[in-house]
Amino acid sequence: MTDVKMERPGDNKADEPLFYTKHVFCCLNERPAGHPRGCCKEKGAEALRNYMKKKVGDLKLDKVRINQALCLDRCELGPNLVIYPEGTWYTFKSEADIDEIIKSHLIDGKRVTRLMLKVDQKLPNA
Ligand code: FES
Repeated sequence: MTDVKMERPGDNKADEPLFYTKHVFCCLNERPAGHPRGCCKEKGAEALRNYMKKKVGDLKLDKVRINQALCLDRCELGPNLVIYPEGTWYTFKSEADIDEIIKSHLIDGKRVTRLMLKVDQKLPNA
């Protein structure tokens, strides 16, 4: 794997300011039942993404956007989301997990370490 070092947002003064300070991509990909990798949608991703979008809208968080994505290629660990520009990945199971990501990451700027996916994370039996 090529490890490309990129400038961080704000390093390059020629860049425009960030349009979204937190841009969240939630995987809603669906595969046929019984697919060996599974999918985020069968694990409740759509309802949790809709919950997150509504809550962020109700809170009127400035410059935060919740988008849906197709497969992020970490299906076995899902449901998954990733937040840019920092590139923090989360797996989540409940509205309480989403509440914690919103409060800690999107509002307070602190990662929720217990829900973060590591770069080399696999399923316990994989
Ligand atoms: S189906 Fe969600 S990461 Fe692949």
